[in-house]
Amino acid sequence: MKNKIIDLLAAQIEGMSKEDISATIEIPPKPEMGDFAFPCFRLAKTMHKAPNMIAADIKEAIGDVDYLDRIEVKGAYLNFFVKTEVFVKSMIEAANSENFGGSDIGEGKNICLDYSSPNVAKNFHVGHLRTTIIGNSLYKIFSKLGYNAIRINHLGDWGTQFGKLIVAYKAWGSKEAVEKDGISELMKLYVKFHEEADKNPELVDEARAWFAKMEHGDEEALSIWQWFKDISLVEYKRTYDLLGVDFDYYLGESFYRDKCQEVVDKITEAGLLKESEGAMIVDLSEYDMAPCIITKKDGSSIYATRDLAAIFYRKKTYNFCKCLYVTGQEQKLHFAQVFKVVELLGNEWAKDQLVHIPYGLVSLEGAKLSTRNGNIIYAEDILHDAIEKSLEIITEKSPNLENKEEVAKMVGVGSVLFNDLYNQRIKDVSFSWDKVLNFDGETGPYVQYTHARCSSVVRLAENFDPSNEVDFSVITEPDAIFLLKEINRFPKVVLDAADKYEPSIVARFSVDVAQAFNKFYNSTRINVPEENVKNARVMLTYLTKKTLSDALELLGIQAPEAM
Ligand code: ARG
Repeated sequence: MKNKIIDLLAAQIEGMSKEDISATIEIPPKPEMGDFAFPCFRLAKTMHKAPNMIAADIKEAIGDVDYLDRIEVKGAYLNFFVKTEVFVKSMIEAANSENFGGSDIGEGKNICLDYSSPNVAKNFHVGHLRTTIIGNSLYKIFSKLGYNAIRINHLGDWGTQFGKLIVAYKAWGSKEAVEKDGISELMKLYVKFHEEADKNPELVDEARAWFAKMEHGDEEALSIWQWFKDISLVEYKRTYDLLGVDFDYYLGESFYRDKCQEVVDKITEAGLLKESEGAMIVDLSEYDMAPCIITKKDGSSIYATRDLAAIFYRKKTYNFCKCLYVTGQEQKLHFAQVFKVVELLGNEWAKDQLVHIPYGLVSLEGAKLSTRNGNIIYAEDILHDAIEKSLEIITEKSPNLENKEEVAKMVGVGSVLFNDLYNQRIKDVSFSWDKVLNFDGETGPYVQYTHARCSSVVRLAENFDPSNEVDFSVITEPDAIFLLKEINRFPKVVLDAADKYEPSIVARFSVDVAQAFNKFYNSTRINVPEENVKNARVMLTYLTKKTLSDALELLGIQAPEAM
């Protein structure tokens, strides 16, 4: 319908492209202002006329249109009122179409997504939970738009910390303890190393020597390192399984260790490599940034070097149209430096293809969470707590539900994901169980509950089939039409979310649709004797269910049929 309005306007307005017109059209906040509105302010300059006069002229020129009830001029605005039945028909057909919300704008394009990427031998904490959840949602959003999205886990699995761990393990660790307690034990050893190194600085030299052995391919060093990595991955994968998250590639920092020299050579050839206090750097003072360190005094690579190598590897291997990095905002400078170095090496594409997607902190104030020894919080424990608490609530609310455990998992995990995704990613997230698990608030459980409610309506309507003819003329209630309009925002919502790298746009949309449905549900009886009316209202319910479950899917959240 919007496209038809655009065509009407385009035929009358010179010097404005259809894209421009499309971007200018507004969806009025109130039904008495029409279904679509077009402000004429912008035309005043080129047409040398007052905007309200322009609006009146355009209305005159358009004349009568079969699918429009009327056009009204209100100040500088043209307000279009579509005939209800025509509008309802077009909205229902759109929402019922295949891949509603999606598109093919990404067809044939590769987009790399670098997210999650925990640091081996360290716990998978709430910060990693956020990058995982946001990255996973962006993956789904871009896939929905037809992109070939490539999920990369850039594990932190290389660096001097592994030298320290090997020293600590050899001095104070045991195979049994590491096998039994995994990452917890490795973290204890790491803490112990630092305590002891304060008293005995020689340990630091030993650690450096072990890391040097790793860099030179020493078999013993590498096999201990590989073992620590395997143990860590088992734990990370447990968390990924709970979240329903997967990756196309686990290519950690260690993967690039033999690709760093090439980076150093490139930078040298470009005449950009400088010495500074023994280290080799690229000076970025011209761009108001601290220098990007390429190699340390002892010649070893660092985090930035490996990121540079990863960019060239990914460009060559995947020919990406974009490479996105989801990390906390404290890495802003790091990425700005790395991207600048790529650009300075003559790669103009770095400017718009390499994108850092930062997010805010999670504060756990007020949330009682399980902690293991040392008060360390593991994402896995938060998810288990959420599942357990959901099970309590569900058992109380719906004692007869058959698959309680399964639903509790969807709701518990979903509630944590939703809480992370509901606000703009740059904002800090606060976490409290009352808020996260509130079934009536702007939460995951609320949207899931609304979905389950829709499912039950559709289930109980025996003769309903979404491919049946619908009598569009019987949908006239403002609440029903508002619901349809909300649902029909979906395609634009997905595009916006991709454009801004902002899953919160989808999360908020899901709450809006759920609220619109509940308003409709409370004001309108669905199970009425007139078959055609009932059928049309069930259709609306079915489309709500479908849209809610598709929106939740884009957030990585499952939609239960009953709860
Ligand atoms: N391992 C890093 C961390 O935990 C995140 C890595 C992000 N990706 C990258 N290519 N640098 O902070």
